Amino acid sequence: MGKSLTRKIIESHYVSGSMVPGEEVFIKVDQTLTHDINAVMTYLAFEAVGLDRIRTECSVSYLDHNLLYVNNMTPDDHIYLQSAAKRFGVHVSRPGNGICHTVHVARFGAPGKISMGGDSHTPHGGSIGMLCIGVGGMDVATAMTGVPMRLKMPRVVNVKLTGELKPGCNAKEIILEMLRRVTIKGGLGNVYEYTGPGVKTLEVPARATISNMGAELGATTSIFPADEQVHKFMKAQGREEDYVELLPDEDAEYDEVIEIDLSALEPLISCPHQPDNVMPLKDAPKKPVQQVFIGSCTNASYADVAKAATVFKGHHVNENVSCTCAVASKQTYRELLRDGYVDILLQAGVRMLEIACGPCCAIGQTPATKGVAVRTSNRNFKGRAGNPTAGIYLVSPESAAATAIKGTFASAEEIMGEGIVELAEIKEPETYLVDDSMIIPPLPEEEAKKVELVKGPNIKFLPVPEAPSQHLCVPVSLKTLDNVSTDDITPASAEFSSMRSNIPLMSQYCYHRYVPDFAARAKELGSSIIVGGENYGQGSSREHAAINPMYLGVKCVIAKSIARIHKGNLVNHGIIPMLFEDPASYDLIEQGDELEINDLLDQIPTRKVVITNKTKGVSFRVKLDLTDNEVQVVLSGGQLRYLKKQLAEQEVAEKEASEK
Ligand code: F3S
Repeated sequence: MGKSLTRKIIESHYVSGSMVPGEEVFIKVDQTLTHDINAVMTYLAFEAVGLDRIRTECSVSYLDHNLLYVNNMTPDDHIYLQSAAKRFGVHVSRPGNGICHTVHVARFGAPGKISMGGDSHTPHGGSIGMLCIGVGGMDVATAMTGVPMRLKMPRVVNVKLTGELKPGCNAKEIILEMLRRVTIKGGLGNVYEYTGPGVKTLEVPARATISNMGAELGATTSIFPADEQVHKFMKAQGREEDYVELLPDEDAEYDEVIEIDLSALEPLISCPHQPDNVMPLKDAPKKPVQQVFIGSCTNASYADVAKAATVFKGHHVNENVSCTCAVASKQTYRELLRDGYVDILLQAGVRMLEIACGPCCAIGQTPATKGVAVRTSNRNFKGRAGNPTAGIYLVSPESAAATAIKGTFASAEEIMGEGIVELAEIKEPETYLVDDSMIIPPLPEEEAKKVELVKGPNIKFLPVPEAPSQHLCVPVSLKTLDNVSTDDITPASAEFSSMRSNIPLMSQYCYHRYVPDFAARAKELGSSIIVGGENYGQGSSREHAAINPMYLGVKCVIAKSIARIHKGNLVNHGIIPMLFEDPASYDLIEQGDELEINDLLDQIPTRKVVITNKTKGVSFRVKLDLTDNEVQVVLSGGQLRYLKKQLAEQEVAEKEASEK
């Protein structure tokens, strides 16, 4: 049998380990990306390991999420990040250049490369045949040291696309259909590899909508072939030399096959408060909509915004709707200006926002109390838009525009009638406006060594956990329900994202939207355990959802299941992720119960741990879904301690080899 594209790329980057699905494999990483609201801890960690320069082919630091600068904190972060990039040989994409994923694919990505990004939507790069994986910031720091990355070898699921999308349907419909079928946790451990004749009809930004939002399936990543569409895109970006054709073998072997007929899709809508709560748009009960946002890395490409503008032509935003648009990159914005689409949006009463993530992560445009917000972004968790009383609905840009006009959920066809065929004519530009003046390239090595790191008052320290002890007897500080997201643990928003460089401050707000007394309680307890339900820690790659609880003394999270990136972050930051062997054991625990573990250090390598609930007088078993490497990291007290050990050993080995 032939090979999938995923397997080919992993094989070409293989360093050690096993390529059997579910087992641990170590791979070389070519590129990394970070963004402003997660990255300070990443560069502090890189600084702590003591290397002078990154060892990846290319690493990029994007200043793209929080550009509001409501106080000194974010500018402090940006200045530090810019100095760290200069010091360590990293590119900087300056504020206003665009959202990390969009810019990375356009200006840095290339077929066949492996990229790790400190953001869960890093799989966006799968749109050009690249294997792109979202990880925590500590993993990005590790990748930048050149140490091979651990990866659980994924299952590869083939998504065969046939037919062609109807006008008024967008790639958003494809990924919403996937979410409807697979659900938010069904993709765990999988790579979704898209093939079939329908793929040929999708331009790169449309593919990016799908691979980007594959993160919502809980998947490791998603990938498309590097074919003629990718060739066209790279050529239009003036980067034809970076293109190589990369396809799966015709008889490639897959672990599962899913088939979707694009011609059969209708406009869809994802309803609050989970992305997989999907239904046909026409069946959604009509509600008065308060806010519409067209933007985000998921759906603000040239064709997306041009199509939305075309729906608006001759219409105006409903008087009860606040409609905003944030284009994903400067490149796209200039093209939309050139071609008259921005003018159409302005005439229609759409408010053009800064080129940034902004409202997608609650940095501005928070909906009203109990407001209905319709967005083209990727997540609709409770509170994701900054107001837990609001309901967020996810749709395509075409449907968002129609909704803004009508003031209630509507499709483009309801506005355009037979004129909807015009939408099918709108394509990505043949040639993009290339202008890299907002990208600061790395300094030569000798010059870089002289750069001072600038740490304003908002830049505090990176907390480093202690290694676990043999005996643990601590209370449960919190018991949660299913599907807790990293937004629930550490909220986004302008206010909170600027605190991410200051853990003593930010940890005070851990869980505060839902359990306002959690931080104070955990701190008072000193050490504690959190008990979670299914899919604990889904959503953003935000490692602060692990760092803050660790800083508050949380030693273990015991849950029915834990989302992939969050599990990695817990391991990296010294919290032991544990899974109930029997999910019914969840019912044996209440908040405040005292849990005891004996011989913990001996039990960790066996991946089975016995826990006694001393308050209830019962014992239960948990399993540790950890690779050999993760066991070592846990026993070392987190990734930073382990990485330093690894680099020291590597240095000794290199010295010995050179002396022979
Ligand atoms: Fe930014 Fe939202 Fe994408 S925060 S990176 S636009 S998911």
